[in-house]
Amino acid sequence: MTKQETVRALIGDRLQPKNSRAEAFAPVNIALCKYWGKRNEELNLPMNGSLSVSLGRLGTRTRLSITEGGDEVILNGRKLAQEESFARRVSAYLDLFRPPNAGFRIETENTIPTGAGLASSASGFAALAMALNRLFGWELDGRALSILARLGSGSAARSVFTGFVEWFAGERKDGLDSYAAPLSIEWPELRIGAVVLSAVAKPIGSTAGMKQTVRTSLFYRLWPQRAENDLAELKRAIAARDFQLLGTIAEANALAMHATMIDSRPPVFYWLPETISAFQTVWRLRQDGVGIYFTIDAGANVKMLFLAHNLNVVRAAFPQAEIIEPFASIEIGKEQP
Ligand code: PMV
Repeated sequence: MTKQETVRALIGDRLQPKNSRAEAFAPVNIALCKYWGKRNEELNLPMNGSLSVSLGRLGTRTRLSITEGGDEVILNGRKLAQEESFARRVSAYLDLFRPPNAGFRIETENTIPTGAGLASSASGFAALAMALNRLFGWELDGRALSILARLGSGSAARSVFTGFVEWFAGERKDGLDSYAAPLSIEWPELRIGAVVLSAVAKPIGSTAGMKQTVRTSLFYRLWPQRAENDLAELKRAIAARDFQLLGTIAEANALAMHATMIDSRPPVFYWLPETISAFQTVWRLRQDGVGIYFTIDAGANVKMLFLAHNLNVVRAAFPQAEIIEPFASIEIGKEQP
């Protein structure tokens, strides 16, 4: 199955825009049980299921309209040159939906504080899929939107929803059973601290890093089962509001993902000395009885997980951290306006 065939399976040949312009917002998400490894590169089908929490009002707002010329991509108020990598990626994605001879004008803004170290491709492609749905009047459900977002970036499958979100790995070759769904459970006291430890560019992107890990890491053979166990435990922790269990599993899951990367040849290694000292600060606080855990994606930056009553301790230990309230003023599990 190709991306084009997936799109046809979901929208048929409905490529007549119903509206002249459309707008959508999608949140950034942080995985508590990580997605690492693709079983299909073209369709971004994952080897394992994953679970994330969306970051409330932090994300991407995208306005979309049809034009007569070529594509125009405006990112945070700046018009991108067509050959810039983000513009190329967006145009390639829009090719999947392009009516004959049409161009798109895409105006996209990230509400993510610059320097929070949060990747915006997940929220970006989710917002784009949702805006397309409105522009063409497809009236797709969350499952179909999640699949369309996945075609842009794997983790975007989860950014279609707010709150806790599970992405089912699926088994089918066509990937139509690989989509995300919200857990519909709120945890208003949950806080995330995002700290930028370094502006140094990542040594390797997630797609290439995953490929290298899947191909060469022996430890990776343990990963799909490990992720499945962690995902089940995380769901139990969330249902029971057991923060200690949630933090323990999320931190261990992130470290296990990095262990598979480190076992690759050549190693896929993202940590910096600052990364390790952040881990140690978290562990020291924990020894002192503070309920704080960390998670880390494919990069050097660390995200802390804690509950509202520990805010001051976390602020004192990480004065530069951006504090995020994932459940502030959102409707759980809903598409955003
Ligand atoms: O979909 P991508 O290419 O953004 O990959 C995301 C990979 C991780 O951030 C490391 C894990 C995850 O589940 O978000």
